[in-house]
Amino acid sequence: MKIGIDRISLYSSHYYIDLKTLAEQRQVDPEKFYFGIGQEKMAVPAPDEDVVTLGANAAYPLMIDEELDDVDLLLFSTESGIDQSKAAGIYVHRLLKLSSHCRTVELKQACYSGTAALQLAVQYVFANPDKKALVIAADIARYDLGSPSEATQGCGAAAMLISSNPRLVTIENKSGYYTEDVMDFWRPNYRSEALVDGKYSVQVYMRILEECWNQYKKNSKLEFKDIDYFCYHIPFTKMAEKAHVKLCRSSNIDVTNEEKAKAVCESLKYSRLMGNCYTASIYVGLTSLLDNTKKDLANSRIGFFSYGSGCVGEFFSGVVEDGYQKYLYNNNHEEMLKNRSPLDYQQYEDIFNYSVPIDGGNYTFPQYKTKFFRLSGINKHKRIYESVNK
Ligand code: HMG
Repeated sequence: MKIGIDRISLYSSHYYIDLKTLAEQRQVDPEKFYFGIGQEKMAVPAPDEDVVTLGANAAYPLMIDEELDDVDLLLFSTESGIDQSKAAGIYVHRLLKLSSHCRTVELKQACYSGTAALQLAVQYVFANPDKKALVIAADIARYDLGSPSEATQGCGAAAMLISSNPRLVTIENKSGYYTEDVMDFWRPNYRSEALVDGKYSVQVYMRILEECWNQYKKNSKLEFKDIDYFCYHIPFTKMAEKAHVKLCRSSNIDVTNEEKAKAVCESLKYSRLMGNCYTASIYVGLTSLLDNTKKDLANSRIGFFSYGSGCVGEFFSGVVEDGYQKYLYNNNHEEMLKNRSPLDYQQYEDIFNYSVPIDGGNYTFPQYKTKFFRLSGINKHKRIYESVNK
């Protein structure tokens, strides 16, 4: 039985800062950001956005297309959660009017938990082929202002419908995975910015890629030549390019620029404009690949490397279905990224320094540009969400 991703929809903030603007302020050569880390624009969440609104906004087109009626499992993955107890997915469950007979839970393991959710959802549908699961990965990547990691912030969400006979990508059942207790990136509960040992995190990412890849090859009996396209976790696009070079070298493949471009290039387009979306990043990459590749990808095998600091990694694969083009939300994604508003440096810093009041008072938040849902206020420590009237 085929099981996999039936629909996928992305959402990111309406606001961004051009990394040239940031470079000027930090007195850094803009080429360090544009070329050195491969990022151009960084999505900045408005004060009335959080992972709930990002995730609900990503899934809204699925609701409008009446794709969510049979969903009885909602897995919400994030590492920028808003509550230590209540799952962010429960707010989303209400906003999307999902059935009350639907399990809802939040998952965490840094950037890996989107993939954990996908794999759990695939197993769920395998056991219940007439059911569907909704996986939402939503995150806001935040580091200290002025830190080396600042330019690798971003935000966004991916909503994926998992079903049998999927119309986009069938997920294959062999993978290679790996866990190790390392401190490359973490965020203690009392901090709203992540802590990271940046250069070390890059080394660990590369090492775990190799561990996962070797186990994947052993389990699947597949080789590099059997994979047509690659989607890596994308903390910044240069990282995915480097990961691909490493995989080519370890498979004794001569990486000409052309070959390299073919296999990963289209998967990086959206991330270059959105920045790190943590749990959603690899699925932003998949969507970018499906939306932007001119060639028909039907029957192509995609290799995925998911990495979450701390750390857990997984290499797995999927095969693109015939006729997938009809089920993409590529026009929404193009329009969303085209119509965003740039922030100047001061606006970026003001938004960065804004935080939801924590004194239990009754606050109404000013309305910024969001899509379908927004965080309208907070009262007695309870977040209030509303639909945005179009
Ligand atoms: P840095 O120290 O500012 O940068 O931090 P750098 O000096 O290493 O320079 C970066 C690149 O720009 C280098 O290229 C330079 O040569 C180049 P490389 O040698 O690596 O190929 N460069 C230039 N290029 C052109 N013109 C110039 C110029 N100047 C320099 N003028 C670092 C970089 C990635 C460490 C930092 O941004 C950081 O700490 N980021 C956050 C951590 C991160 O993203 N880690 C990635 C792996 S871990 C991961 O992916 C998990 C994560 O998503 C979290 C999770 O799982 O939850 C982060």
